[in-house]
Amino acid sequence: MGRSHMSARMRVRMYKVFLLCLLGFCVISFLHYYKALQNIPLLQELSSTSSHLKTLKLVSGFFWNVPDTEFLSHHNNHKHDYLKGFLEAKVILPDDTFQNGDLHERTFILHDDSTPFFIQTKSGAMCFQKGTKMSDTASQRSILQQQHHQHDSINEGKKGVKCACRQGWHGPHCGIPTIVQHSDLSTKSKLMPRKVPRRVINAININHEFDLLHARFHELADVVDVFFVCESNFTAYGDPRPLYFRQLILNGTFDYIKHKILYIFLDHFPNGGRSDGWITDDYLRTYLTKNGMSRIQGLKADDVFIIDDADEIPARDGILFLKLYDGWTEPVGIHMRKSLYGFYWRQFGTLNVLSGCTAAMLLMVYKGDGILLRRRSYYTMSGFREYENFTGRILVPWAIGSPVHYAGWHCSWCFKPEGIYYKLISAQNGDFPRWGDYKEKQNLSYIQELIRTGGWFDGTVPDYPPTDPKEHMYAPKYLLDNYEKYGYLLKNAYTKEKG
Ligand SMILES: *[C@@H]1O[C@H](CO)[C@@H](O)[C@H](O)[C@H]1NC(C)=O
Ligand SMILES: *[C@@H]1O[C@H](CO)[C@@H](O)[C@H](O)[C@H]1NC(C)=O
Ligand SMILES: *[C@@H]1O[C@H](CO)[C@@H](O)[C@H](O)[C@H]1NC(C)=O
Ligand SMILES: *[C@@H]1O[C@H](CO)[C@@H](O)[C@H](O)[C@H]1NC(C)=O
Repeated sequence: MGRSHMSARMRVRMYKVFLLCLLGFCVISFLHYYKALQNIPLLQELSSTSSHLKTLKLVSGFFWNVPDTEFLSHHNNHKHDYLKGFLEAKVILPDDTFQNGDLHERTFILHDDSTPFFIQTKSGAMCFQKGTKMSDTASQRSILQQQHHQHDSINEGKKGVKCACRQGWHGPHCGIPTIVQHSDLSTKSKLMPRKVPRRVINAININHEFDLLHARFHELADVVDVFFVCESNFTAYGDPRPLYFRQLILNGTFDYIKHKILYIFLDHFPNGGRSDGWITDDYLRTYLTKNGMSRIQGLKADDVFIIDDADEIPARDGILFLKLYDGWTEPVGIHMRKSLYGFYWRQFGTLNVLSGCTAAMLLMVYKGDGILLRRRSYYTMSGFREYENFTGRILVPWAIGSPVHYAGWHCSWCFKPEGIYYKLISAQNGDFPRWGDYKEKQNLSYIQELIRTGGWFDGTVPDYPPTDPKEHMYAPKYLLDNYEKYGYLLKNAYTKEKG
């Protein structure tokens, strides 16, 4: 009948459309591939929007060193060729005067970390120092100096010689923390300590989360090689704001970690950000990553990139594992303990944020844009298949920790009442309802009452499990070690009884 005739014609048309789409997809894929090979700077869109990015124009690409031969040794020559354009695209470095320029113009040079994380025992085993019972290996003398022992492969440790692990550490070298041992990583049996640690980049945007920032810096100081910290002179809502963090760097507050901070200054507000706050939200992270990566020298393909919100603090042991081991897959998530207003209002479950990958994956799959990493859509990215092909591994996302093993902390709205007030009024315009638009929600005694009860701005009071500051992974160590100073985050300041 006419009807079936119609549907047959429609089917043919649909096939045509499908084929066209497929063709289009192929062309687009090819263009991306081609673009990658040409090493076209990923920064073009950005550099045209800001005069402050003029430095980036000098730096027309990313600074790649030839990666560890170890990294490529598993791959065939074809794959070498594929990455050649990427990895050897050394670019003219900016003038030395930038080293002494303003904070937001300086470059950062990554170096290999020579910390002896592994030691050699008398019996010849290579053991992770912190994870190994020292009494059993007390007589060992020779500490591995990685830079002097390039040929002593950790991987070749004598067969049968094992390390005696402390509680909480696993694997033949005692370097695998419980949060990895109990994670959903599918390649646990292939994990191997590296000869030279990866360098670790940790990127965040900062508003006024300075106490959590101190906690992050102390937690990760000896694991992270460089912190990208981005600050804007606009709030996420579009209002002007002073450069608080810059002031604190300049007045000495962060002298203990200043040498690891790459300060990023976002001096404009994205178009459309006022009406659609999600534009701002994304743009902050795009800018953070692209500006930061463009000012790094000596980057290697297998370095680690981790992007967090200021209120997400990864636990040290998980990040150190990424730094010291080969054989994990990517992208990497982190299961974080969730709490509100402080660590005392713990929420059920964990927050698992996809926040880590190698520098190679960041650039080849996520186009150098950290926001794309945080979205769970890596398999739709155009560079995904090529990258998977290049690494010779299947890319399987996994997460450090598990729903019952915290690998970090997500402390939401963790401020004194004044800080909560400030967060309310500077919040981006898109997360509705926007509580900062309600005058009565800005009342400090109202906010104190929320903190006291654990209630939310919509009038609900969620159910919380009991907490105890002595519990495992209650809060980052630095805060617990300075209990009095950070007491407002550790116990409820507005209840009569103990928090
Ligand atoms: C932010 O800084 C830029 C560059 O210094 C300046 O042009 C702009 O007016 C500033 N914006 C605000 C809101 O202060
Ligand atoms: C730096 O400035 C902050 C904020 O004004 C202040 O609290 C802090 O004490 C200052 N630190 C130093 C070392 O001057
Ligand atoms: C993967 O690489 C091989 C050569 O090593 C090549 O023949 C194949 O087409 C590539 N596949 C994809 C999806 O890029
Ligand atoms: C804040 O709320 C308290 C009690 O809810 C009220 O007494 C006080 O007047 C309010 N303050 C302001 C500035 O609105």
